[in-house]
Amino acid sequence: MDLMIPIDRASRNSLVEQVYQGILAAIEDETLGPGQRLPSTREFARQLGITRFTVDDAYSRLVGEGYLEARHGSGTYVAARVRLAVGAPAAGTEQVVPARKLSRWRERLRSSPEAEPATQQFAYDFTSGTPAFDRLPLATWQRLIAREARNHDWSRYSYGHTAGLPHLREAIAAYVGRSRGVTCTPDQVVVTSGSQQSMDLLMRLVLEPGAMVVVENPGYWWVRSIAGLTGATIVPVPVDRDGLVVDALPEPSPDIRLACVTPSHHTPTGAILPLSRRLALLEWAERTGALVLEDDYDGELRYDSRPLPALAALANSAGVSNNVVYVSSFSKVLFPAIRLGYVVLPPDLVEPFVAALATVSRHAPTLNQAVVAAFITEGHFERHLAKMRRLYSARHDALVAAMDAHLAGIAFRDETMTSAGLHVLARFEINLTESEIVARAAAAGIALDGAAKTFMVPPEHPHFFLAYTAMPEEKIQEGIERLARLLRGA
Ligand SMILES: Cc1ncc(COP(=O)(O)O)c(C=O)c1O
Repeated sequence: MDLMIPIDRASRNSLVEQVYQGILAAIEDETLGPGQRLPSTREFARQLGITRFTVDDAYSRLVGEGYLEARHGSGTYVAARVRLAVGAPAAGTEQVVPARKLSRWRERLRSSPEAEPATQQFAYDFTSGTPAFDRLPLATWQRLIAREARNHDWSRYSYGHTAGLPHLREAIAAYVGRSRGVTCTPDQVVVTSGSQQSMDLLMRLVLEPGAMVVVENPGYWWVRSIAGLTGATIVPVPVDRDGLVVDALPEPSPDIRLACVTPSHHTPTGAILPLSRRLALLEWAERTGALVLEDDYDGELRYDSRPLPALAALANSAGVSNNVVYVSSFSKVLFPAIRLGYVVLPPDLVEPFVAALATVSRHAPTLNQAVVAAFITEGHFERHLAKMRRLYSARHDALVAAMDAHLAGIAFRDETMTSAGLHVLARFEINLTESEIVARAAAAGIALDGAAKTFMVPPEHPHFFLAYTAMPEEKIQEGIERLARLLRGA
């Protein structure tokens, strides 16, 4: 047969590549059909005016990829099957995409308003959850990264320990003991890629359809989303200015497996759960047989007095520590992009939790862990925290002063709330919706984060996180003044 392939000696493509592509194109446009014999290499080389080796190379490559078959003593043939039985629609006809079948799990997956970072740059950023990036000890951090990355052996670069680097687990166990009163062994500490992963794994281990999980209302939206994925029934419990209303917890039942709480600093209100309620919550957990997930992501950040010990610390001293899982994170005390957090587990939950972590993500990134371990053990972490407490305290006061001076009659905060965390929750009494306020503020260069997502049922008035940690005091002052002008003109 005559098979014509254009050969261009001036082309950047090698002659082998040109023959290879030419044969593939002939198979594609069906000039060459399945089972058809190709010219011998000698014949084809002669026709194309190239060497036999070139043709031989191209044939071998196509044989290797399964398009051609070399039959000993008989020649080279197009393989019997070279394309899908079902394929792209004929030219000019529209492809009908059948509805893709996705799982129940996908149906339970709710998209989150904050899943992607904002692309717009804002002059004033009051959105929640950002630490003071301009005050990160970057020189130390970079030095430690460089040091840990060049470290001695290849363990930083291979698969690592599922539960975390042993010396990081030791450093965390010592740190949570000193800082949060949580007494534990390093074996109880498991390093994760942040609180969300910690919560996800724990919930998969204890929740399922038919089970019940208590959440705070309002409360951390991701907790509700993650719990929802398990198919368990979500039981919202109200929150007042002292945090979770423990008297409103459901009656004990074996179906209640978990209660998720933020006792040190409630999200979003900022309430601190008093001792009497902490004790009542632990008693309820003991009677119910439910676990308490203590989310302590910003427990270290309290400015007007010493941080209260964690609920897990009280559970330790009361002898009921097996009922509490302590979850914390480096997202706020260092920075969120690090994606590192940890859990302190009752001993019986360590093995299942580690098995779950190994199965879904193997382990948290080792190099980050090594840097954080060095950062803690060499004293940088607690020095940084102490500096951030002073800085955030001043920024908190600047925000509150600016609100009092400019937003009086528009934005209300609960004055009984302690100075702690990264934001003040403000209720806006104005004739605009949350999204209208966000849009108008954005147009004026102000980023705002609505708190509707924290409520099971949106409240009558829009609420906002006013985060103060990422901006200097003058900026906070200017930003609030600008916001006030904008809202008063509305
Ligand atoms: C209530 C609460 N828990 C935990 C976290 C930290 O989560 P992660 O460690 O996944 O960054 C946040 C972050 O904003 C939060 O608001």
